[in-house]
Amino acid sequence: MDKILVRGGHALKGKIPISGAKNSALTLLPCALLTDEPLTLRNLPRLADIDGFQHLLNQFGISTMIAGSRPEDFGRVMTLSATRLTSSVAPYELVRKMRASILVLGPMLARAGEATVSLPGGCAIGNRPIDLHLKALEAIGAEIEMTAGYVKAVAPKGRLTGGSYTFPVVSVGATENVVMAAVLANGTSDIKNAAREPEIVDLCNLLVAMGASIDGIGTSDLIIHGKDRLHGATYRVMSDRIEAGSYACAAAITGGDVELVGAKMSEMDATVKALRTAGVIVESTADGIRVTANGTLQALTLETAPYPGFATDMQAQFMAMLCMAEGASVLTETIFENRYMHVSELNRMGADVETKGRTAIVRGVEKLTGAPVMATDLRASMSLVIAGLVAEGETEVSRLYHLDRGYERLEEKLQLVGANIERVSAD
Ligand code: UD1
Repeated sequence: MDKILVRGGHALKGKIPISGAKNSALTLLPCALLTDEPLTLRNLPRLADIDGFQHLLNQFGISTMIAGSRPEDFGRVMTLSATRLTSSVAPYELVRKMRASILVLGPMLARAGEATVSLPGGCAIGNRPIDLHLKALEAIGAEIEMTAGYVKAVAPKGRLTGGSYTFPVVSVGATENVVMAAVLANGTSDIKNAAREPEIVDLCNLLVAMGASIDGIGTSDLIIHGKDRLHGATYRVMSDRIEAGSYACAAAITGGDVELVGAKMSEMDATVKALRTAGVIVESTADGIRVTANGTLQALTLETAPYPGFATDMQAQFMAMLCMAEGASVLTETIFENRYMHVSELNRMGADVETKGRTAIVRGVEKLTGAPVMATDLRASMSLVIAGLVAEGETEVSRLYHLDRGYERLEEKLQLVGANIERVSAD
């Protein structure tokens, strides 16, 4: 198994290209189910999760073709054609490996009139139920049955009716599922307290490009007028605001000066505000965002929340950065119950982080020290790389499959800005 070795102490300087957003791509790909015409997605990141999702869609009889695969290119173009579906079942073996597979439930149900998807189960960061996905689909006409670890959803008479649903808590995944189902319903759907993440806006924009009718895009009240059919489209995946935010934390902790090429300030308000409060200079440029730090960081108080709040996906990276800030920071994780697995690893590197339930107190330290570390989820793994960039000596990050799920060619991008980082085979 591969490892990443980071030798800290180099201020990052230069340009980092930001890839297409993983979280957006994983909800745009299943839209191929909604039409029998080809869907072409540009700027797809090259990530293990995208390959896994492609494999899942192939199981349903969707053909996929990839272009732009020169090894030196970032991103890819994929054309997906669901002319005829051969299966409506997402099996346990695939769903277990990739939670996002649950996002085929809504579009498959809308297109085929039925869908059977394995229950995803929990994951390292928490329990992660799907009850809200099911309730929202029921509200627009689905009949749902659970058997032997699978959810079977059926649209009586072959087509969903549309309907109203108010989410009791904001759910990104459940909003995505119900929107993808409602676009082909035989009626109008009104989805209240919907998630408003930029990735949901990206999803709605793709669906509109495919002929869907959605009012209220970017708000928490989405009104979807179902259509008889959608058509194909060519669409560019938005840039990855979480990847950009992660590299911003990396630049900040090293006292660096980095331009995040392709990043969009308007989608990163909470991250930018937090960086600025910590003393980091963040400016728009013609091509993206420039992040400059002078080596001194201030402590912060941060609480994760649905968009436009501070993203749970940025919590671990900020925690790593704040380990080197002056004073004590207070972080509160409100979305997931178990998203502090990086704490013990950061402490092994000399950090001073104490958790109490959902709150973490991060007391700034003078220095971090390299150590062998590993993490059990994607953003936690990135936080260890960020800490390694400033730690004295060598940090060895293992279990790279987490990073490969969400960061396209991480070590190459960090090498571009002068980091001493390499991927080595553990053998
Ligand atoms: C969540 C994050 C998203 C992040 C992703 C991966 C939020 C609101 N969502 O999206 O930003 O990119 O993790 O880290 O920040 N819930 C239920 N029942 C359900 C669905 C969700 O109770 O059926 C609860 C969850 O346990 C959680 C909250 O609702 O506490 C939000 O979950 P949700 O947005 O659905 O999770 P993801 O779509 O995975």
